[in-house]
Amino acid sequence: MSEMITFRIRRFNPESGEEAYYEDFTFEPPNPEATLLDCINHIKWHIDGTLTYRMSCRSAICGSCAMRVNGGGQLVCNAQFHDFLDENGMVTIEPVGNMPVVKDLVTDFSDFWNKVHSVNPYVQYADESAERSNDGEHRMDPSDFAKIDEASTCILCGACYSECVSYEADRNFLGPAALAKAQRLVNDTRDETKHERLEALSEYGGMWDCAHCFACVQACPKPVNPLYRIIDLRREAHKEGFHDNNGSRHARGFVEIIEESGWLDEAKLPVKSVGSVGEWVADLLPMGVRMGLKNKYRPNPIHLIPGRHHPEIPKMEEVKTIIQKTRLDKEDETAEAEGEPDNG
Ligand code: SF4
Ligand code: SF4
Ligand code: FES
Repeated sequence: MSEMITFRIRRFNPESGEEAYYEDFTFEPPNPEATLLDCINHIKWHIDGTLTYRMSCRSAICGSCAMRVNGGGQLVCNAQFHDFLDENGMVTIEPVGNMPVVKDLVTDFSDFWNKVHSVNPYVQYADESAERSNDGEHRMDPSDFAKIDEASTCILCGACYSECVSYEADRNFLGPAALAKAQRLVNDTRDETKHERLEALSEYGGMWDCAHCFACVQACPKPVNPLYRIIDLRREAHKEGFHDNNGSRHARGFVEIIEESGWLDEAKLPVKSVGSVGEWVADLLPMGVRMGLKNKYRPNPIHLIPGRHHPEIPKMEEVKTIIQKTRLDKEDETAEAEGEPDNG
């Protein structure tokens, strides 16, 4: 006889007037290799027909079955139940996070779609007939396509939004899928609006507001790796000269601080990130005072003195060499992209 397993499922029915609650379903899985979705279907088809959720393809293609499984975003048709059982033989299933719940495991994706639409997710040409081959195709070099290959695998399932800490903190953040879609267009050689796209994506809520938590990389069922697509966007933004924003200053300030001592001096980073004295006074100072009052950090008068505040780490020369090498590699990469001859 097969093992019995328990699915603890978060239920919510807006018509009942009750708060959301968890319900346990204990059953023998349909087969030893069943997916999480097979098990949820088993519940619906054999135990409780009122359980509500989205699914369609059962092949990790349509993107409709994203849920939160044991606290993380997951495409449930793409994972087997035995990989998620805890020591009590239980799996916890909830609707995806960061979205309003409509019923049981169904959430309202409106803001997700708004964000995707807001990055203008279509190739833009100035001239519709430009550079097309005789058969009407607008061809792309395979090496150029390689730059957008990963982002193009996105199935818009929303598993990444479920766990995104930046989106949770601020709904203005475009979020991982919309930014991955944006990278797919920014690096598309057929698109003629790269500069405008990068300008818009450098604004508040765009590429620089990601907190690098890696949750989207972990949740994504496809090889999109959204965080790495955001890093691609930042690289493109630097190449196009978008340096005058807090995110870009933050990235450069980070390297400059590490170059001083090998330590990240967190007190200096916000100061290097702001663009003006006005911003320092209006935003940074009040935030610093609030953080100090809540014991988030202890103000240290030494930070008012310009210069290095930490002793160098023992292998500082190695750190400097890595930074220098990375800079040289980047210069070579940029020269190559701009068609300059390799003198090396
Ligand atoms: S790495 Fe950035 S985009 Fe991805 S989940 Fe974290 S904050 Fe969101
Ligand atoms: S980036 Fe990944 S997790 Fe996010 S919507 Fe696309 S396929 Fe789903
Ligand atoms: S049912 Fe289509 S992706 Fe899971």
